[in-house]
Amino acid sequence: MAAVRTSTAFNTLLDEVRRVHEAHPATRDFCAFPDDLQPQEMAALHRPCADVMLAEAEMEAGDYTALRDAMFAASSDALWRETYAGTEIGRDFMDRFACYCIIGSGGQWSSATMSAYLVYMPAGFWYTWHHHPAEEMYLVVAGQGEFLRNGLPSEVLGPGGAVFHESNQPHALQTHDHPVLAYVIWRNNLGIKPVLTPPEMLS
Ligand SMILES: [Fe+2]
Repeated sequence: MAAVRTSTAFNTLLDEVRRVHEAHPATRDFCAFPDDLQPQEMAALHRPCADVMLAEAEMEAGDYTALRDAMFAASSDALWRETYAGTEIGRDFMDRFACYCIIGSGGQWSSATMSAYLVYMPAGFWYTWHHHPAEEMYLVVAGQGEFLRNGLPSEVLGPGGAVFHESNQPHALQTHDHPVLAYVIWRNNLGIKPVLTPPEMLS
């Protein structure tokens, strides 16, 4: 069987992701960076949400500028996702909420232990309450966002800020004056998509 050829931009991104993951206490403690990565075939798929992100290449990233730039550089080789296609969330959300997978289904590599994604939202955006069985860690790479977890005070986080979501804990994200770009990782129950949280589940 022919070896899978990985994108040069994704290879650079993987190096940056691994470096940041292993250097930051929150991601390092969440899970070890996978040692079982397998390259997999992926077909780039562009979506309008990617253009919204690409217009903001200068968003403030501080110590995470190299990761931000690697995320942008890989965007033309990425399979941009529509995680909430078929739900009531609507076209406007899907055209401005940008996400691609790095490790996991639709990403350049697979792993049995962790999935990894890029998530971007423009300024003034509401990512409504949702949940999923996988445990999750957000690490802000650039910009700023207000992270909400059901039953807890919200937290405004910028580059280097991290937040943990327990299994099936409803969470949401609001941007205000700035867009936000994040490295998002999952452990356990990989591959089960998020669902929107019905209001009666919120306290
Ligand atoms: Fe989540």
